[in-house]
Amino acid sequence: MKHASRRLHSDTSRAVHAGRHDLVELGLHAPPIDLSSTYPTPDLESAGLSMESLGHGGHPKGSAIYARMHNPTVARFEEALAELEGAEAAVAFGSGMAAVTAALLAAADCGRRRHVLAIRPLYGGTDHLLEAGTLGLEVTFTDAAHAASLVRPDTSLAIAETPGNPTLDLLDIQALARSLGPVPLMLDNTFATPILQNPLQFGAALSLHSATKAIGGHGDVLAGVIACSEAWAERLRVVRVLTGAVLHPMAAYLLHRGIPTLPLRVRTMQATARVLAERLAAHPGVSRVLYPGLGGTDPHGLIGRQMKGTGTILAFDVAGGIAAASALMKALEIVTPAVSLGSTDSLIQHPAALTHRSVPEAARLAEGITGGLLRLSVGLEDVEDLWADLEAGLAAARDVAARTHELTHA
Ligand SMILES: Cc1ncc(COP(=O)(O)O)c(C=O)c1O
Repeated sequence: MKHASRRLHSDTSRAVHAGRHDLVELGLHAPPIDLSSTYPTPDLESAGLSMESLGHGGHPKGSAIYARMHNPTVARFEEALAELEGAEAAVAFGSGMAAVTAALLAAADCGRRRHVLAIRPLYGGTDHLLEAGTLGLEVTFTDAAHAASLVRPDTSLAIAETPGNPTLDLLDIQALARSLGPVPLMLDNTFATPILQNPLQFGAALSLHSATKAIGGHGDVLAGVIACSEAWAERLRVVRVLTGAVLHPMAAYLLHRGIPTLPLRVRTMQATARVLAERLAAHPGVSRVLYPGLGGTDPHGLIGRQMKGTGTILAFDVAGGIAAASALMKALEIVTPAVSLGSTDSLIQHPAALTHRSVPEAARLAEGITGGLLRLSVGLEDVEDLWADLEAGLAAARDVAARTHELTHA
């Protein structure tokens, strides 16, 4: 497919046209959805060549053969995402975790390179997959400063996130990638989105998204996608064909449908997030606000240089621990109490009880995931409506904190 929109000046225009360059030629305005599970193969010779190509992670040569091997609607979404990430290719999966798994399996090269460096904090599901040993890999958990010293001859991949989930820690992708030498870095770019950060520019080999989040953006699709070189894409497609972790074409259509508004959604949510972070930081019931750039959280000047903005997610600690945090969540009327992020509506969740529950408590506390910590994914609601809701929640939290204080000091 053509990558004509690379010539477009702004990401807003690119997002509108990405993956749609052939539509006029086809006489279409909206991208078509192809729901075929199998594809006709009347000419065996060319079908055989296509089978051979797809089996090795290549593109179809004529017939797409079978939907586990290739689907044109999914390929269109992948093309759009690759354009936004400035990547040669992208490979989509049925969920973010399917994408993480495929990357680990592709990097492990049939078990020949079994060691993985996991740089905490990571999304709880990724942490759990690595900690549980489900894939039979050897995992060393570390931080960005110590990762290079832990590289082994059989290290296949390093995994990191920035901003980190849920503490919004920033890390320098370029410095980390350089320090790792030949070890490929997979950067989970879910929080930043391809609009605010393009990790391949800074030396990451793979930029991973839970497309369930801002890319889908409407809370109705589960998906994962990895932007990378064509060589990595071939390895990832082989794993996808073999394990069947494919994205459904309806889901790919919905994801692609949301891409034109992605820059607008991200920038609007970000402007609101910034205001809420500042107001929360000034609120007496909040002991700590975690938001990129706020209160000395960006000592290396990564905002602007690496990340084109401060993002749409923040976290904050309410005085009174989990009981106060729970009271806050219950009192909210606009913000939806739910895991996930990047949706049109604001979502709030309690990492220690939910997304990061499986992370061992000591590691959780070391990462700053306390009982009072709440993660807020800011949506498209008006900032004043959100603030009024949060203020009501904070009042409920304060009452609980005060009662707990009275009881413990009675
Ligand atoms: C940063 C991050 N990476 C990966 C995932 C996993 O994605 P999925 O839920 O689509 O499998 C999530 C899900 O919450 C996430 O927040």
